Amino acid sequence: MPHLLDIDALTADGVGQILDEAERLSDSSDMPLRGKHIINFFAEASTRTRVSFEIAASRLGAQVVNIAAGGSSLEKGESLVDTVRTFQAVGAHALVIRHAEPGAPYLAARHFRGPVINAGDGRHAHPTQALLDLLTMRQRFGALQGLRIAIVGDVAHSRVARSTTLALVLCGADVRLCAPPTLLPDPGWLTALPSSSTGGTVSQTTSLREALSGVQVVMPLRMQAERQQGGLLPGLKEYTRIYGITREKLADLAPDTLVMHPGPANEGVEISPELMTGPASLIGQQVENGVLVRMAVLKLLLGASRE
Ligand code: NCD
Repeated sequence: MPHLLDIDALTADGVGQILDEAERLSDSSDMPLRGKHIINFFAEASTRTRVSFEIAASRLGAQVVNIAAGGSSLEKGESLVDTVRTFQAVGAHALVIRHAEPGAPYLAARHFRGPVINAGDGRHAHPTQALLDLLTMRQRFGALQGLRIAIVGDVAHSRVARSTTLALVLCGADVRLCAPPTLLPDPGWLTALPSSSTGGTVSQTTSLREALSGVQVVMPLRMQAERQQGGLLPGLKEYTRIYGITREKLADLAPDTLVMHPGPANEGVEISPELMTGPASLIGQQVENGVLVRMAVLKLLLGASRE
């Protein structure tokens, strides 16, 4: 695998290998990427993904150059392709890219010699988020096969929902997507859904009660207002009342369910503040695992070994 652009290029075994590598790296002080230069190109807002790629690279001994769209020559009208050619010419070994345009990392990969890692492209894909979500669930439940997960909220605009669903189904989990009708994805959303030999499934519902019944994990999502056309919801208050995940709703509908969130969360909208850090929360673990998974991906893609 030369790049990591989406989950659809991976097999269940491939996902397992990345997660295994992430766990191996958790207490390793090896620096297999010493002498490598990695460009962290974030043309869209980010806190945890950008910082965790940076920490991951430096824990492996690589040097990181961070660059945002603002302040780069994109502001002077330079094209993405020419920007990527510049990264290539200065000798970068790998490129991590986040971009508002779906497909931008694929275009970058055609003009860059080393590995390109998609750190989120529009509403399309966010493969390292999917991998860190899976690692978090695997650590907690031992296996992904047969796990039941509800993803609740703005599924239609969420690259996290899409990549995480792909990865979970690939590994044999059952995913329930839950949202008001206007925020459920259209049928083309999961074009790459694997015919999973592990028996994973995905279903959709507008009923939170139905979605939460018997699930081990619920993952509320932020309203991706920057990608919405408007007019999709009568109001945020009503959304929160019906779909917002609170301690009371969990106690009523799914008492043993654990809570994950890709962040950034809008507390009081899709999730109530006390759930963020409460005993049922795996959110801190997700962020920690983000560093490990990104270390694994960088190490595997750059093909580095200690020798
Ligand atoms: C998400 C993203 O940017 O896709 N955050 C993340 O990377 N952890 C989700 C979001 O923007 O809501």
